[in-house]
Amino acid sequence: KKDLILSGKKILISAGPTYEAIDPVRFIGNHSSGKMGFELAKMAEKLGAEVTLVAGPTHQSVDGYNIKRMDVTSALSMLEAIESVYEAQDIVIMAAAVADYRPAEIADQKIKKNSDKMTIEMVKNPDILKHLGTKKGNKMLVGFALETNDAIKHAKGKLERKNADLIVLNTLEDEDAGFGVETNKVTFITADKEPLSFPLKSKTEVAKDILTFIAQNLKTNA
Ligand code: PMT
Repeated sequence: KKDLILSGKKILISAGPTYEAIDPVRFIGNHSSGKMGFELAKMAEKLGAEVTLVAGPTHQSVDGYNIKRMDVTSALSMLEAIESVYEAQDIVIMAAAVADYRPAEIADQKIKKNSDKMTIEMVKNPDILKHLGTKKGNKMLVGFALETNDAIKHAKGKLERKNADLIVLNTLEDEDAGFGVETNKVTFITADKEPLSFPLKSKTEVAKDILTFIAQNLKTNA
């Protein structure tokens, strides 16, 4: 596929939730369906890119697409999969909803309901995007931000802290945007431009807007 806007580019996309095990039958997860990340992966392939998709547990499919898919479960396993392919990439997009914390210990046996209250001690997961930002090189690094308040301010903070080139902000304040649904409403946050807001669109169209913006702003386009 020559002459497409992402021809010759290697792109890594993460999608979906992570599941953090509590015991052999239970986990802590979140409402990400994987849709946004999978639409990005499929659109990137259509636009000519060589696509690797690292996916948390989801029902989404990339059947019929030429996409290298790596399935993972927890934040730690997502980090490991991403690390194994990161160096070769030109573009990395973290659309996954990675759990910030995991249970400090995973019980070997199913936990019994012996007491009226129970506490699960949690420890912090690595921030994958932030870690990738410390060894970015010429790569274009893109994060998402899911905010519930002071969205632009928090998204700008994430851009800086994580050394990203673009943060795609989606807020749960917008109806029909964010988790699970077929549509999304996003604002692009960069270091040097004013925030760029888009209307509510299908996640397929949002994916195209994101990838078009990336293609136009690649550092490796020399
Ligand atoms: O999957 P869908 O149902 O289609 O929903 C899409 C979505 C809402 C999940 C997606 O559009 C989205 O916003 N994904 C990121 C959600 C999120 O975890 O946001 P955050 O603000 O907590 O994290 C900021 C960025 O850091 C994200 O790029 C995230 O992937 C990354 N991160 C977060 C925590 C962590 N431990 N490691 C990370 O890399």
